[in-house]
Amino acid sequence: MAKKIRYGIVGIGKQGSKYAGQLFSGMDKNGELTAVCDIAQDRREWAKNKFADKVKVFENYEDMFASGVIDAVIIDTPHYAHPVIAKKALESNLNVLSDKPAGVYTKAVREVAEYAKENKPNLKFGLLYNQRTSKVYKAAKDIIDSGQLGTIKRIVWIITNWYRPQAYYSQGGWRGTWAGEGGGVLINQDPHQLDLFTWLANSKITSVNAIARTVGRQINVENDVTATCTFENGATGTFITSTHEAPGTNRLEISGDGGRIVISGSSDFTMKLEFTKLEMPEPEFSKTNTVFMGKPKTKKSTVKFLPHEFLKGVLADKGQHINVIRNFSNVLLGAESKLIGNYEEGLNGLTFSNAIHLSAWLGRTVSPQEDDFEELYFDELQKRIEEEKSNGVK
Ligand SMILES: NC(=O)c1ccc[n+]([C@@H]2O[C@H](COP(=O)([O-])OP(=O)(O)OC[C@H]3O[C@@H](n4cnc5c(N)ncnc54)[C@H](O)[C@@H]3O)[C@@H](O)[C@H]2O)c1
Repeated sequence: MAKKIRYGIVGIGKQGSKYAGQLFSGMDKNGELTAVCDIAQDRREWAKNKFADKVKVFENYEDMFASGVIDAVIIDTPHYAHPVIAKKALESNLNVLSDKPAGVYTKAVREVAEYAKENKPNLKFGLLYNQRTSKVYKAAKDIIDSGQLGTIKRIVWIITNWYRPQAYYSQGGWRGTWAGEGGGVLINQDPHQLDLFTWLANSKITSVNAIARTVGRQINVENDVTATCTFENGATGTFITSTHEAPGTNRLEISGDGGRIVISGSSDFTMKLEFTKLEMPEPEFSKTNTVFMGKPKTKKSTVKFLPHEFLKGVLADKGQHINVIRNFSNVLLGAESKLIGNYEEGLNGLTFSNAIHLSAWLGRTVSPQEDDFEELYFDELQKRIEEEKSNGVK
């Protein structure tokens, strides 16, 4: 293995070009950009102008994978191709860091995760779940994992500040269609929240009941979702999201036997976390309390992160995404042991997303553990793609 991890990026559109620029300018001391590839000529021209002869530019990923100039691949194409390209990279003995979502449907993602586990155990396979590096979510995870929140009772996320006007959807391309993207707000804007929702709950989702609709936009995919779910550990969850509400809300509330965590704020710069700890765990209080209408007392100790702390943190880190890339390089070089986002975990958020769609489409409660869950989802998705085609949408 080279001293620095040599990266090749597949897809240098809006997001891939950002990582290319960051790697090229030396923001990962253990990683370097040695190749990029894009099927679009204008993107290749952009790369040639920006990187001159320091970075190899390819027309297709097969050639880049066979070139011998890279150790790891970052995937930044539209979502459907993510697991397809990941599999090809693994077959070419390359480490893979895929951008979110892991894919559009769990069947494809599970198959490639299994392939990696069985056939390429020595390769690293990660997901670019940058929001796991956000201070608030990390702090919430630490509180939960340390046992201070106790058994989780409920997790509720209202994430309606993904405002997207009609102009966003009308720009065409792959976004906002079943064929191009495989969904709306769930698959484009929410993968981070869906991942964090299941990551923080520390448990698998066992049932989902959802409404997913299109509100106020000329699109086929959903932009308004209200979902409830149950978890294996006995907790329940509610996930509400949209792209048409203004002003929107971002509020995550997790309540447990030991108290409550509330995370709110519209961006990294305004986010705050409040942890209200009970003096005595609620079940114990209820057993021992003799006062009619008595209530558990809360401790004064409340953890808070104020906007300026975030600003300092974000400026010092120069962004969440590059931190995930740095972690990937470090793990490959043995300097860190754990990937921030392991590919297999990518299935959890995507399973929730698929289950929300399926419940809304079928008008019933669904369980990801149902025998034919993956096939049913896949078939229903194909129906929507066919319908879109017959209505003349590409
Ligand atoms: N982690 C994050 O916070 C984050 C943020 C934005 C986007 N993304 C993800 O990044 C991905 C790309 O989004 P984007 O906004 O950059 O899209 P984009 O349309 O701007 O770029 C995609 C690029 O991929 C290229 N491409 C398509 N198929 C290809 C193939 N087979 N081989 C090589 N190149 C190919 C296209 O020509 C295009 O240049 C999406 O999956 C999106 O979800 C992640």
